[in-house]
Amino acid sequence: MEVVIVPDAAAGGELIAEAIGALLSRRPDALLGVATGSTPLPVYRALAAKVRSGAVDASRARVCQLDEYVGLPPGHPESYRSVVLREVVEPLGLSEASFMGPDGSAEDVQAACEAYDRALAEAGGVDLQLLGIGTDGHIGFNEPCSSLASRTRIKTLTERTRIDNARFFDDDIDQVPHHVITQGIGTILESRHPILLATGEGKAEAVAQTVEGPVASIVPASALQLHPHATVVVDEAAASKLKLADYFRATYAAKPAWQGL
Ligand code: GLP
Repeated sequence: MEVVIVPDAAAGGELIAEAIGALLSRRPDALLGVATGSTPLPVYRALAAKVRSGAVDASRARVCQLDEYVGLPPGHPESYRSVVLREVVEPLGLSEASFMGPDGSAEDVQAACEAYDRALAEAGGVDLQLLGIGTDGHIGFNEPCSSLASRTRIKTLTERTRIDNARFFDDDIDQVPHHVITQGIGTILESRHPILLATGEGKAEAVAQTVEGPVASIVPASALQLHPHATVVVDEAAASKLKLADYFRATYAAKPAWQGL
């Protein structure tokens, strides 16, 4: 696992947008797995700016969703489908045809989950999966004690996550759904390059456990230790509880530029 410590969220966004740009120049129709939440927004803004300036050609990029609420009416502004269309697909100038996600309003949720896993595989698999992290160490919506081999499925949110996400629902926890669909940890580990971005002191403990703790389902993000090419990008605040921070800094400073992320 490579850990890159950047000065702030904007620098993290720029670094990951550059990595996505490099991927798209190698593979123009790359399948980009995108996360929601506040953390990845600087990535999407930096990438959209590169597309506007002509530095990156994203015209053939494909985008896929990581997770989704269950039971929100179609078109709800906080459904993750709406969020990804608004924050990623539209700013990159892509059409809905280049976007895929699980159906959070399906009658048969389990069938929708299985169909989504199949669709990801049929699309050739995710080339780069951007991830945030919950304060409890979740990735996607894989809450603590999720199976590390899990596939896309329905999950029940913890009270902690519903409180954290209430800010997107008028600060009213009662509006936050209890159930979600999430790519499983096993599904996420099949992506060719997972990149986790964490910013702010509130994520420092989860980051330390993810990077330096044991692989354990109580901290779902720690499963990234099992991936041969996982990158964790953190700002100084989110890195503040890492014991090996100086080592990570020195390693990245000495990294040949041609290697990229
Ligand atoms: C939600 C999403 C996660 C995201 C997390 C953290 O739970 N399902 O994918 O990583 O929120 O969000 P934020 O980046 O806003 O802290």
